[in-house]
Amino acid sequence: MSIADLIKSRRTIRKYQQKKIDTEILTNLVDCARMAPSGRNRQPLEYYIVQDEQLLEPVFRTLSWAGYIAPEGDPKEGEKPAAYIVVLVRSEFADQLAKSDAGAAIENILLAAWGYGIGSCWLGSVKRKDLAQILNIPGDYNIDSVIALGYPAESPVAEDSNQSTIYYKDDKGVLHVPKRPLKSILHIDKWE
Ligand SMILES: Cc1cc2nc3c(=O)[nH]c(=O)nc-3n(C[C@H](O)[C@H](O)[C@H](O)COP(=O)(O)O)c2cc1C
Repeated sequence: MSIADLIKSRRTIRKYQQKKIDTEILTNLVDCARMAPSGRNRQPLEYYIVQDEQLLEPVFRTLSWAGYIAPEGDPKEGEKPAAYIVVLVRSEFADQLAKSDAGAAIENILLAAWGYGIGSCWLGSVKRKDLAQILNIPGDYNIDSVIALGYPAESPVAEDSNQSTIYYKDDKGVLHVPKRPLKSILHIDKWE
């Protein structure tokens, strides 16, 4: 698959097979994040891999899923993530530049994961205080986001729409993700 096709075929996955992800793969995902562009090359991000069975459920409880269709979009028992990567920012660097860094690094993780056939969900809706306590994260680190990971047990579809940006499930339980059409977001040489 070309990189462009890989990028376009990635969808957020919120139902996962109950199959472990190799630690080596998870580590390589962080290595891909490490190589992302970084404003002023400050590299303020660190990463916390969670794969221990004892931690997965407490971490899960700090996350909110698919706000538009909650609770329908929550992973149910037997569909929950196999691992998480928690993206941390050293608090001395917690500014807009660090947020951009996090976006670039996280997208690297999502795409590298998809390259392994692993689905992901980028979660910004996180009970950060609870999660910091569960994972014993030092006070001089902020939690930017959590990335849930697992082999997919659903196949959401993207579809062009100018009407709405709200994703929905159809009567077969398939998640439809509206994307603004290329024509309506692209300006070449002149503004029309
Ligand atoms: C900054 C950011 C925060 C997000 N937070 C959440 C979240 O807390 N929970 C969730 O289920 N999905 C979350 N998502 C995933 C989006 O809902 C998803 O990317 C969007 O619906 C488009 O779907 P797609 O990724 O399949 O293209 C987040 C995505 C981004 C970029």
